[in-house]
Amino acid sequence: MTDLPDQIDRDVVIIGGCGHVGLPLALAFADRGAKVAIYDISQASVDTVNAGRMPFAESGADTVLHRVLSAGRLRASADPAIVATAESVVVVIGTPVDEHLNPKQTAITRALNGCLEYLRDGQLIILRSTVFPGVTALVEKMVARLGLQIEVAFCPERIAEGKAMTELFELPQIVSSRTPAGVKRASALFGRLTSKIVVMSPEEAELAKLFTNVWRYIKFATANQLYMMANEQGLDFDRIRRGLAQDYPRAADMPAAGFAAGPCLFKDTMQLAAFNHNNFPLGHAAMAVNEGLPLYVVHRLEQRFDLGSMTVGILGMAFKAGSDDIRSSLSYKLKRILEFKADTVLCTDPYVTVDPSLLPLDEVLARADLLVVGAPHPEYRGLITDKPAADIWDVLGNGVRV
Ligand SMILES: NC(=O)c1ccc[n+]([C@@H]2O[C@H](COP(=O)([O-])OP(=O)(O)OC[C@H]3O[C@@H](n4cnc5c(N)ncnc54)[C@H](O)[C@@H]3O)[C@@H](O)[C@H]2O)c1
Repeated sequence: MTDLPDQIDRDVVIIGGCGHVGLPLALAFADRGAKVAIYDISQASVDTVNAGRMPFAESGADTVLHRVLSAGRLRASADPAIVATAESVVVVIGTPVDEHLNPKQTAITRALNGCLEYLRDGQLIILRSTVFPGVTALVEKMVARLGLQIEVAFCPERIAEGKAMTELFELPQIVSSRTPAGVKRASALFGRLTSKIVVMSPEEAELAKLFTNVWRYIKFATANQLYMMANEQGLDFDRIRRGLAQDYPRAADMPAAGFAAGPCLFKDTMQLAAFNHNNFPLGHAAMAVNEGLPLYVVHRLEQRFDLGSMTVGILGMAFKAGSDDIRSSLSYKLKRILEFKADTVLCTDPYVTVDPSLLPLDEVLARADLLVVGAPHPEYRGLITDKPAADIWDVLGNGVRV
């Protein structure tokens, strides 16, 4: 057994703390006066963070990163020994589904296994990843087997990427633990960020997080299906949507159509389906509709254009507006479909930095015969072009019909 430091001298360590959820959380705690450590297996991200740079774009995070680093309240490390230095251990690694849509139920316990020898009596483990239901109980069992006096809590993250640095202080925080002491300690930690604490049992909280994402995914699918229905009639779905919602609060939450993608909604819907023994007709229907939208768009374009002889330009490759994140972006699915159908496909995005094949916007506008908006970045609003364009979000201002 490795020697543990004598003293716990940090408030919190975040395992997976260089990620899209972990890093904003680390910054938020540190900015509210906590002494924070990050443990992350990505040495490159650890070095970037310690050098005062964000590994990805997150609005408002750069300034806070500088502030907390200069105040000496944040330190990132790829050495798991840092886990032993903190009172609370937050786990927020990725929890994806695999290529067969199976959740990886043991992702969290495997990550904890990687720093097992640095866990110690008196710590509080807080699971913050979106987990397969039952994982909190699994971690409780793991801790009990180790014979350590450690409380376990599940406190899911509900921020939207890009809004983390405001939403972490504004959204209510769901807190769950099997013991009153666990609830009290986790509430005290998140009480640094918000006074709105919602207490649930671990099983309720696990479902609450999945239900939150699934609800959103199904709402997007409903809008997307209605969009396709209206479009088939040659009608503009967004004119209909805005008209029906005008001064009519019961329809105010009907979303606009668009690619419902990204690292969370789809995979969490599939996690819930797997949890319910694949008996989730609404969830699977939502997947079929949302994942089918790029195919529908190309199918419509095929009816109007001789795609095989055309150069098609995709504007926006991130999974949503204003983001640099391409994880599970449907723009890439669109690209793959078009690469099969069109003569040439050119892609551009003002935010994405990880794809060397992307071209400047001007070049795509000049060379493309046909444009498809893949992500409604604000930079595209009101863009003037004489090229025909498929624009589900109406960023170009000519309606959403395809
Ligand atoms: N991205 C979102 O908007 C969002 C919102 C709410 C909840 N969530 C949930 O939060 C969790 C994390 O998502 P994310 O988008 O931040 O993922 P991410 O991939 O951006 O970050 C995960 C981080 O964990 C690190 N990591 C992986 N395995 C590790 C290990 N064994 N030990 C230490 N570090 C390890 C990675 O290097 C990475 O930096 C997921 O469960 C996700 O569903 C995400």
